Amino acid sequence: MGIPSGTNDIFSSDAAFDSLYSLRAQQLSSMHWTPIDVAKEAAKHLTSGSGKHILDIGSGVGKFCITAGHYFPEHIFYGVEQRQALIDEALIAQNATNTTNVKFIHANFTTLDMDQFDHFYFYNSFSENIVHHKPIDNLVQTSAEIYDEYLSLFYELLDDKPAGTRLATFHCPDDYIPPAYKRVRQLSGEALGLWLKQ
Ligand SMILES: C[S@@+](CC[C@H](N)C(=O)[O-])C[C@H]1O[C@@H](n2cnc3c(N)ncnc32)[C@H](O)[C@@H]1O
Repeated sequence: MGIPSGTNDIFSSDAAFDSLYSLRAQQLSSMHWTPIDVAKEAAKHLTSGSGKHILDIGSGVGKFCITAGHYFPEHIFYGVEQRQALIDEALIAQNATNTTNVKFIHANFTTLDMDQFDHFYFYNSFSENIVHHKPIDNLVQTSAEIYDEYLSLFYELLDDKPAGTRLATFHCPDDYIPPAYKRVRQLSGEALGLWLKQ
């Protein structure tokens, strides 16, 4: 498939959007990257309160951030990603879609100052530590201990945030989320959870 000609064509289907990526990233898409429709629903929730800075924790090739940025131009979407190769793919797709309100950060999420961000998107990013089916690559050290460490840091960061913080989770167990977050909706066959801190 060739690259679609107009920006709107690129957002018309997952196949069209994924054509911006390498063949390897396209092959990983159905398992690792957020579908366009899910990204739009999640972004709608995350942009519905006050606060304009939204972080995708483990942004991969940037599919959530770029889709969200395209449909919600008044907000800034940040993606933190530990793999440089995926940041490189994300920047190519960002450039191809002329999306200016998206910023990618090459880092482990544990090193970020979370005070900079108002709301969060999370596609069960740490599961690669315990699920080894169709891995992204074998370049990152994984273990059950790392999984536990990341999950508790994620829980703490959510717990520290003020009332009004919004969260969207995809394929993520409910017990990852502190009790102060109330689910406001569940979509996409239960996979997409939309949460608001009380
Ligand atoms: C399931 S993919 C989701 C990608 C993207 N959020 C999306 O929805 O299209 C999870 C991503 O999280 C990244 N990741 C996992 N642990 C991370 C960490 N500790 N810090 C930063 N990125 C991490 C992985 O490299 C992978 O690209």
